[in-house]
Amino acid sequence: MDRLFQPFRMAGHTLRNRVAMAPMTRARTPDGVPDDLTALYYAQRATAGLLITEGTPISATAEGFLCIPGLYRADQVAGWRKVTDAVHDAGGVIFTQLWHVGRVSHVSNQPGGVAPVSSTARIARDSQAWGMTEDGVPGAVDVSRPRALSTDEVRGVIADFAQAAANAIAAGFDGVELHGANGYLIEQFLNPTVNDRTDAYRGDTLEGRTRFVLDAIDAVIARIGAERTAIRLSPYGGLFDMQPYPEIEDTYLFLADEFSRRGLAYVHLMDQKSRGSVAIPPDFLARFRARYTGVLILAGGMTRDRAETLIDAGLIDIAAFGEPFIANPDLVARLEQGWPLRPADRGLHYGGGARGYTDYPTYQQESA
Ligand SMILES: Cc1cc2nc3c(=O)[nH]c(=O)nc-3n(C[C@H](O)[C@H](O)[C@H](O)COP(=O)(O)O)c2cc1C
Repeated sequence: MDRLFQPFRMAGHTLRNRVAMAPMTRARTPDGVPDDLTALYYAQRATAGLLITEGTPISATAEGFLCIPGLYRADQVAGWRKVTDAVHDAGGVIFTQLWHVGRVSHVSNQPGGVAPVSSTARIARDSQAWGMTEDGVPGAVDVSRPRALSTDEVRGVIADFAQAAANAIAAGFDGVELHGANGYLIEQFLNPTVNDRTDAYRGDTLEGRTRFVLDAIDAVIARIGAERTAIRLSPYGGLFDMQPYPEIEDTYLFLADEFSRRGLAYVHLMDQKSRGSVAIPPDFLARFRARYTGVLILAGGMTRDRAETLIDAGLIDIAAFGEPFIANPDLVARLEQGWPLRPADRGLHYGGGARGYTDYPTYQQESA
């Protein structure tokens, strides 16, 4: 009965409800530094039990899209401090999503215009980044052919994850979520149709393909503690040329065991159906839930009914909403009161300023 709107204990915090705002890239920081507008946007949505920020690049080479706020420079840490202060003042809890795009990038996104890095030198087919077009203006560009990281360089990227996590804590975040979903670097190691390495991070063995994500998680835990460490995964997802493979279930259930042992803040699964890709099979969700003993979040096509059904069935703990939060800063109240949801203007999702970002009204404002 309405457990969705009841407080919930997670990683030492009392969340005011079981509604999370899913991470959403909004590309509104041309200099990569969060500002007052960023702070206002998140504070407006702080009635969610848990806010998860847009993906934040962990290094200059982790970038694949323009105008994204990162977490690897002092000015970015100072910018994020405005956001975390505003959210905490509004009584919210906020994690940030640590992001390395790997091969989903373009030479124009990379320092010195060099090739992006990945687990592989295989290019992501039919995939686009947001960089500088041949005409020298920002726009969608086919991703560039990546260069495979050497084993030493892999360790360097793991160190970048740990440093960015420490930066996040310095910026006042309550924790970090590693972006292990949607075809980016972590999934480029997990998926054996992409990962053709022959070293300790090889794709053709379970231990090899899961080593990168577990090493990264362990490095982050060592810096900031397991209670502040979380991860997002998209099993069965197909974004950015992630092809299915027979060992998907074994791979993710193995990770469920490993994450259970580590006592993470949460694991966040993303069902990509509402983003135009493949759904997580319902029986897989039940099997993952049986193996993963910690707090479980699910995102993707969530509604109040679906969230309550899944929580009541014991299949998830927290329901994350993405797109509905863009046009409904007061989404929690709208769901609880049964007020109508406003549709978002998709043309304003990425880039620009306040319009389509901080100017969506609450239900009370729109009906005044
Ligand atoms: C504008 C937009 C930007 C997004 N950016 C990210 C992102 O930075 N990181 C991520 O993991 N998912 C991202 N997503 C996916 C959302 O987190 C969410 O999982 C997805 O939209 C499905 O939930 P929904 O059906 O409630 O929108 C984005 C989605 C949208 C609509």
